[in-house]
Amino acid sequence: MKAILKRAPASLKDEPKNLPKRKTMSGRRKSDDNARTAKKLVGDIMKTRPGETVAITCDTESDEAFVSAAAEAATSFGARPIVIRVNAPPHVGRAAEPYLPLDSLVGAVRESDVWIELNGKWLLYSKVWEEAMQRKRTRYMCLVGMNSDMARRCIGEVDVGRVLDFQRKLQEVTKASKHMRYTTPGGTDVRFENDAKRPVLVEGDVSGPGEYMLFGQVDWAPLEESIEGTIAFDGSVNPPDELGLLRRPIKLDVKGGRVVGVRGGHEAVVYEKWLKSFNDEGMLKLAHLSYGCNPGAKLTGNVLEDERIWGVLEWGLGNQSGTFGAKEIVASSHSDGITLKPTLEADGSLIIRDGEFVHPALADSARALMPAKRKKPK
Ligand SMILES: [Fe+2]
Repeated sequence: MKAILKRAPASLKDEPKNLPKRKTMSGRRKSDDNARTAKKLVGDIMKTRPGETVAITCDTESDEAFVSAAAEAATSFGARPIVIRVNAPPHVGRAAEPYLPLDSLVGAVRESDVWIELNGKWLLYSKVWEEAMQRKRTRYMCLVGMNSDMARRCIGEVDVGRVLDFQRKLQEVTKASKHMRYTTPGGTDVRFENDAKRPVLVEGDVSGPGEYMLFGQVDWAPLEESIEGTIAFDGSVNPPDELGLLRRPIKLDVKGGRVVGVRGGHEAVVYEKWLKSFNDEGMLKLAHLSYGCNPGAKLTGNVLEDERIWGVLEWGLGNQSGTFGAKEIVASSHSDGITLKPTLEADGSLIIRDGEFVHPALADSARALMPAKRKKPK
């Protein structure tokens, strides 16, 4: 036995050095997590069927491991994936168009049954999205900036059915609310009214062709002209690229749904300059408000995840999707900002207090879903 070991080839003896056990296992674990999560996304969430065409778009900022996992998942369901990777443009939405192979993207995406957008710089609200939505063939999900870790936390480890049930309850509570006001420790104090005829969207509940966001978010467009007060982004804001996680709040003074002033430190200066750089009045208008309710999401600076943090409220500025049944504001781009630990009051009742859903119709299911670390001991 000893003699055999002595004669072992150098490559075999070196093997433990070249392939450290921990690294190999963690790499394998990541790849297994990706495979499981991607199957949940492509199968359970996007409801992909055999024979369907699945377009997966990505760019040079995307997590290639997760892109590949999504394509493999599509194949495993008997679908036909096509992966389209572009150079990440410097802008998002319509402003990205001059930097993209637009006609090729439009052609591929609008003729697909499923479109999973894993781009770093989003195609949402660009001509690619517009034509696909007009064609009414494609089930589209916007997963911009998704990476393997986020996918595991926000999709793989989440009980999607229970989150969607909670979202439907939140939808009902919001639909029944007219006058709203919310404050945050960061300086938000804003009032607005809802139009009962406008939809409140339960994101992630894929049920046919159309535009879907990842579950863990409920959003709507309040009556634009009624939005008055101060909105203090104190979690993150994106775009522009220069911003992300915020050191100091960016305070937006709002009148009639339009930003009339931007206050704060250096980040506020950068944000105001970016909003005004488009020379587009639409970029100063508030487009939507969203609740975050994905128990796996945490503050990372990535808007896809940040806007789903349990109990946050997020405002979008700029282009306004037609799905909101509102004014369909057309703008060069779109930006989202997160307000942390809101206390939201609707017609005299509390829906959220300090970032926790406390409304009687929500409290029990919220407690069952909320991240374990936030549950208070009895
Ligand atoms: Fe938004």
